[in-house]
Amino acid sequence: MEQTRQPGLATRCVHAGQRPDPLTGAISPPIYQTSTFAFASLEQGAARFAGEEPGYIYTRLGNPTVAALEAKIADLEGGEAAVAFGSGMAAIAAVVTALVRAGDHVLFGNPIYGCTYDFLMDVMARFGVEATPVDPARPGQVERAIRPNTRLLLFETPANPTLRLADIRALSDLAHRHQITVVVDNTFMSPYLQRPLEHGADMVVHSATKFIGGHGDVVAGLAVGPAEVMARVRSTTLKNFGGILSPFDAWLLLRGLKTLAIRMERHSENALKVARYLEQHPLVMRVYYPGLESSPYHELARRQMDGFGGLLSFELMGGMEAGRTLLNHVRLCTVAVSLGDTDTLIQHPASMTHAVVPPEARAAAGISDGLVRLSVGLEDADDIIADLDQALAAVGRAQKR
Ligand SMILES: Cc1ncc(COP(=O)(O)O)c(C=O)c1O
Repeated sequence: MEQTRQPGLATRCVHAGQRPDPLTGAISPPIYQTSTFAFASLEQGAARFAGEEPGYIYTRLGNPTVAALEAKIADLEGGEAAVAFGSGMAAIAAVVTALVRAGDHVLFGNPIYGCTYDFLMDVMARFGVEATPVDPARPGQVERAIRPNTRLLLFETPANPTLRLADIRALSDLAHRHQITVVVDNTFMSPYLQRPLEHGADMVVHSATKFIGGHGDVVAGLAVGPAEVMARVRSTTLKNFGGILSPFDAWLLLRGLKTLAIRMERHSENALKVARYLEQHPLVMRVYYPGLESSPYHELARRQMDGFGGLLSFELMGGMEAGRTLLNHVRLCTVAVSLGDTDTLIQHPASMTHAVVPPEARAAAGISDGLVRLSVGLEDADDIIADLDQALAAVGRAQKR
């Protein structure tokens, strides 16, 4: 009997969740730029509100362009359902608040994106939810931090900005023994390079602003997980906080996802070349990139990732001052936060993305004042390296003065 072939990821990046518009045949999905949807009768409106009839009501509750994006990301991550949001932080906040209540406890991997840290440690604390940072590379420490009221374990892998990896399978097994829900922020990898649900995680969140959009022109978030949980997120914290994605931004993400496969391959290829260049440079003390054989996470990366991604960070001889000189001398690389764009972006976590994290917590997470983060773009790798080379030469000159 002929077996049905499961299409590969690159094919699903192009086709999943989409089909030509039944009315016109348009291949690019229509942008349903409408706030509301007409009902044929009072009875139909009532049936839709009661959930007895499928169909759209109001764009804050659902929209066909946004639904196409949700179907595509759910397919790519291998999850039952997805919900789209107006930013990665909206996705994280909606998922966390849908899953916990006052009196609950949350564990999170440290380091973590600065605003996620702030949200968990400050905002959630004000609503009676305590959060504890743990080192997810040490499952023993994670287990010791579990309390009877721990409901959630949230972590990034690779983590922003130190590129520390966490073993998704080991942590999921551990958490599940204690009935704890595991949420992985997969922003740094995208589903093309890593699918946490395949390794036992319960849910995935994304800042889709990054590799999923891929072009630095949209701010968005996505969450993927079991249909029952995602329906709860949609009908509670999406509906009532209202942090929805606009139909046009959903369309930009659908367009971005079409080229995800080739972009992630090129990001990874370029980042490895840049990491190898930096690793041999006399002014660079350490390079953090899971694709380097010298990385303590290289074996784990090979096991749970399908590529090493476009992000790396490094520490310079001369700490903060050297970092300042480097950032002020790059020409092709752009000094900017965010990541996953076509353009190479360089930033200084201690004064930018992680400035909101208290200095002691930064130090505990390995975010030194001299750490520089690079999101390697899609330019020619030789040009990125030449730019870093001339900026590092400026660092060398400054240190000789
Ligand atoms: C790993 C990670 N998660 C979440 C976010 C938040 O996403 P957004 O800026 O889309 O709200 C970011 C932003 O930089 C991030 O790097």
